[in-house]
Amino acid sequence: MASAAMSTLNLISSSPLNKQLRHGAGATVDADHVNGFSSARPAPPMCCSSSSRWQAVKMRPRLRPWRRAGSRVVAQAGSYKVAILGAAGGIGQPLSLLIKMSPLVSALHLYDIANVNGVTADLGHCNSPARVAGFAGKEELAGCLDGVDVVVIPAGVPRKPGMTRDDLFGINAGIVRELVEAVADHAPGALVHVITNPVNSTVPIAAEVLKRKGVYDPRKLFGVTTLDVVRANTFVAEKKGLPLADVDVPVVGGHAAATILPLLSKARPKTSFTDEEVEELTARIQNAGTEVVEAKAGSGSATLSMAYAAARFVEASLRGLDGDADVYECAYVQCQAVPELPFFACRVRLGKDGVEEVAAAELRGLTEFEARALEALKPQLRASIDKGVAYAQQLPAVATG
Ligand code: NAD
Ligand code: LMR
Repeated sequence: MASAAMSTLNLISSSPLNKQLRHGAGATVDADHVNGFSSARPAPPMCCSSSSRWQAVKMRPRLRPWRRAGSRVVAQAGSYKVAILGAAGGIGQPLSLLIKMSPLVSALHLYDIANVNGVTADLGHCNSPARVAGFAGKEELAGCLDGVDVVVIPAGVPRKPGMTRDDLFGINAGIVRELVEAVADHAPGALVHVITNPVNSTVPIAAEVLKRKGVYDPRKLFGVTTLDVVRANTFVAEKKGLPLADVDVPVVGGHAAATILPLLSKARPKTSFTDEEVEELTARIQNAGTEVVEAKAGSGSATLSMAYAAARFVEASLRGLDGDADVYECAYVQCQAVPELPFFACRVRLGKDGVEEVAAAELRGLTEFEARALEALKPQLRASIDKGVAYAQQLPAVATG
């Protein structure tokens, strides 16, 4: 049955770009001819000018995943392989669905130690291009990782009310270590996106594991902090009555409590905030994870918004791998943006090898409030980094390859 234009999934549903993608040049997207939904596209990319000012760049529709058939646009399979480790969990399931809908993805490998076969069977019935394969248990982990371009790690235990993210260290450090060892052995060139908390420590653990295996490339290891940006954009848009799709707030530092530092002075569009608004918005963004943990009252932490944010980051990474020139996202990476902190979340440009540029210049010209908050977060973030490194360094030697 021929149908009208199908609904599309857009992470920024009202952005002009997405309207252009859906309706550009009078093309329609026919449900009978489309194997995938439109790209889960990240926020408007930003570019860094030589004077270190951020400015929106003109957005171009990406045409490659689409082919024209008469007046219709038909989705084509992309070429990237993505693995999700922890795919049957609260984040893993909706994240798998969102990535299954990406036209950039040709294969989606789902790994978990529990319940992954059901998730794979279920998701495999969606008629979007990515082929889904499930991998259950440790003996199938190597197969899951074979040939993948991006590995996303949401495996691990979530918080309950009253806990800090650091309280998860005892269990999650070992999970991340074990999974990243396998990544080092079976997908050493892949981009690795670590979602598992405490991100401030699990990323340094991952880095040490990769170093010990002799395959560490700092450009390819990321702590996923996109949810902080997503929240900041949402809360600022609500507070200031701005269109959601237009707002872009860089969030730097780390991913726990006061280490989460939204740079409201660098928000786009340029917006003025009273001192009270800055304090209130900063506190809300820093405590947003706890807000969800408390609302869920013991059944876990953010899953749907996290899946949304992680899908945005995966899509941005794939666009970078695919050669798009202007892909910027905030992420927690090894960098020298703040010399005392070997890992720091800030805006990075993503390209064919992962991080191609770290936008350290964005840390210049902070307000007094932001500069104080940056100073204040340093000891906490440094301690979390050191804790991760110390954990990894006391591990027994591992076999390479
Ligand atoms: P969940 O318990 O719902 O799911 C975790 C999944 O991991 C489960 O399916 C479990 O079987 C699997 N798992 C456990 N050990 C594993 C292993 N060794 N190998 C493979 N899979 C394994 O938890 P969730 O709500 O999906 O949260 C997962 C993690 O993400 C938590 O640590 C949470 O704190 C973190 N998180 C981070 C952010 C962020 O912004 N970075 C946001 C939300 C949650
Ligand atoms: C979040 O920010 O929602 C996550 O880090 C989960 C949590 O424990 O708060």
